[in-house]
Amino acid sequence: MGRLHLFEFEDQTWLPGVIRDGMTGILNIIEEKAKLYIAIVPCLRSVLRELKCEIIVDLCSGSGGPWKYLIDCLVDSETSSLEVLLSDKFPSFNILELDAFQASKLEFLPYPVDATQVPKELKGFRTLFGSFHHFRPEEAVGILQDVVKCGEGIALFEMTRRNWLSIMYIFLLAPISVLLYIPFIKPFRWPRLILTYLIPLLPFMLVFDGIVSCLRTYSLEELQMMVKQVRGNNLYNWEIGMKKCKRFPGGITYLIGYPKTTTSIL
Ligand SMILES: C[S@@+](CC[C@H](N)C(=O)[O-])C[C@H]1O[C@@H](n2cnc3c(N)ncnc32)[C@H](O)[C@@H]1O
Repeated sequence: MGRLHLFEFEDQTWLPGVIRDGMTGILNIIEEKAKLYIAIVPCLRSVLRELKCEIIVDLCSGSGGPWKYLIDCLVDSETSSLEVLLSDKFPSFNILELDAFQASKLEFLPYPVDATQVPKELKGFRTLFGSFHHFRPEEAVGILQDVVKCGEGIALFEMTRRNWLSIMYIFLLAPISVLLYIPFIKPFRWPRLILTYLIPLLPFMLVFDGIVSCLRTYSLEELQMMVKQVRGNNLYNWEIGMKKCKRFPGGITYLIGYPKTTTSIL
């Protein structure tokens, strides 16, 4: 199946915050309930230990993605000072109010951070969960190039895949998840209930973006081609592959790049 870079609601600057937070909030709940990214913990932990990483800059964080449970899995005696800075081009000011962020090792940056233009002063290992497909190939190569230029590490993970099984799964899972979980998104907002149960706009948008995400997701071969286009790629270790995930068909696509302090450690 060829890659199609179609329209996604989440990319639109005009999308009202209450809808955007509803969409990323549902993703956040699904990721947390199913612990979708738990399979990538061992490989991410090895890289963070190897680099003696203290700060992670998560890009395209939405409502926090999987970080509320991942942080506890990643922090151990060797990475006890690990802090995660969450960021987004469209940061949610409602999420900033939540106690869950205020009391943890997660900090949500209160200003827009575009993943294609990460400010120089934002230093740390970069991560992207379920969002690399938002970028056209030249932007995606630019994200990898900037990491090498800044001497940082990067890890990106995608649950979606460009095949019918992934599309069918989203088509069935997304509407059920919205109907079940929309009242539980914090902070609570009445309009989301109206836009779900009375006028089912939120379920439609989530299914639409989910299917388009599948069609935009890069294959392993495309990720490998991108790395080849990065100047100075030979100074980095690149690990590209799939991790099996019990709760999502096909597994998690990953790309991890880090300066060659050592040989491959995965
Ligand atoms: C599919 S959501 C993923 C959210 C989260 N990482 C997760 O796993 O639940 C994609 C996020 O990317 C953000 N985004 C889109 N384009 C962006 C850009 N150029 N820079 C930073 N964030 C962007 C959107 O606002 C949205 O929150």
